Amino acid sequence: IIKPDAVRKGHTGAILSQIDQAGFRIVAIKRQSISKSEAEGFYYVHRERPFFNDLCAFMSSGPLVLMVLEKDSAIADLRKLMGATNPASAEEGTIRKKFAGSIQENAIHGSDGEDTAAVEIGYWFAGYELI
Ligand code: CMP
Repeated sequence: IIKPDAVRKGHTGAILSQIDQAGFRIVAIKRQSISKSEAEGFYYVHRERPFFNDLCAFMSSGPLVLMVLEKDSAIADLRKLMGATNPASAEEGTIRKKFAGSIQENAIHGSDGEDTAAVEIGYWFAGYELI
């Protein structure tokens, strides 16, 4: 997910280009706004965290870009490309280092494992959208 902060600042194209250059195939993509309750469902695992409410308000604050990406070692490679959750700790050249403003408004989300990827893809996309 390209998060609302990055979309708002006009970084969508640059982030897509970096993802493309890194060898990912974009299987599905859509730009849309989500409601706060949709964000709450998506981040359900974080419901007890102190930042949960702010995170869900932020994720529903403007359009974002939802994607399904395919590649060998896609999960590990995307996490490397994104950089650390906190942009202050992210490596030079990573998407978060270049485009994120804070630990919350950190430009991009990627699934952290195959099981979560399956759930997260199913949360935003219907089977017929995955070509
Ligand atoms: P993401 O990879 O989407 O997973 C959970 C999100 O919660 C994370 O990126 C950040 O946007 C946000 N987040 C994680 N830790 C914090 C924190 N300490 N304070 C605020 N937001 C956080």
